[in-house]
Amino acid sequence: MLELDQRRLPHHVAVIMDGNGRWAEQRGLSRLYGHRAGKESVRAIVESSRKLGIKYLSLFAFSSENWNRPPREVDGLMTLLRKYLASELGKMMRHQIRLLAVGSLRRLPPAVRQALRASIAATRNNKGMTVILAVSYGGREDIAQATRAIARRVERGELTSERITAGTVSEHLGTKGVPDPDLLIRTSGEMRISNFFLWQLAYTEMYVTETLWPDFREREYVQALAFFQQRQRRFGRTSSQIDRERLRAV
Ligand code: FPP
Repeated sequence: MLELDQRRLPHHVAVIMDGNGRWAEQRGLSRLYGHRAGKESVRAIVESSRKLGIKYLSLFAFSSENWNRPPREVDGLMTLLRKYLASELGKMMRHQIRLLAVGSLRRLPPAVRQALRASIAATRNNKGMTVILAVSYGGREDIAQATRAIARRVERGELTSERITAGTVSEHLGTKGVPDPDLLIRTSGEMRISNFFLWQLAYTEMYVTETLWPDFREREYVQALAFFQQRQRRFGRTSSQIDRERLRAV
């Protein structure tokens, strides 16, 4: 297994979990088998993140566009999500994992919404790590709802338009209070953001692997983290500025 530098781990890892369908089709199985195997990868990556000391893990579990999939697949995914929440609650409590959810939760079937609410409430004081589930989530809609919320504050006279900054927008997104991701992992090879965290990914390092999500386990995860540790994050500055700052820091 690769060696990781404990002092340079990403604070927040976000994942686009892609390739469940292809994984199943390659085996002549129905797509739902792929999602079930994907659920085991979710388990593995949550456990590894906690063990390694990652503080925030965001998982794109269901996009606002995924509602357009065949009803059988949508129902299957909703059932998986509900069962996962119920089966993992004990572990989340034991390992001090806090759960948050972002997305249009009103669109979820009541039983799933209820399971999410219960897990969020039960884990809200856990301090070890935060898992953010993006369900029925779309980045554009998140920005649109933040814009509506800010406009309402302006209409009520709580804010003037001149005082709206990038920070104001961040504070009205679903991810309010969560630092922006340092690393985005996308499985199954596609080079797309697919309407995930459009605002939050502005300076995020991207790691795309051909591995399909059900095959993405700790070994692959450590490779992605090692890739991150080799990157130099410049946030718009030059390499020599960064080198000078490093020298000053030692
Ligand atoms: C993309 O694969 C994956 C999804 C749409 C859903 C992700 C769901 C899981 C990993 C399972 C359960 C989740 C939790 C949080 C328990 P795809 O179907 O788009 O694959 P394809 O591109 O190969 O068709």
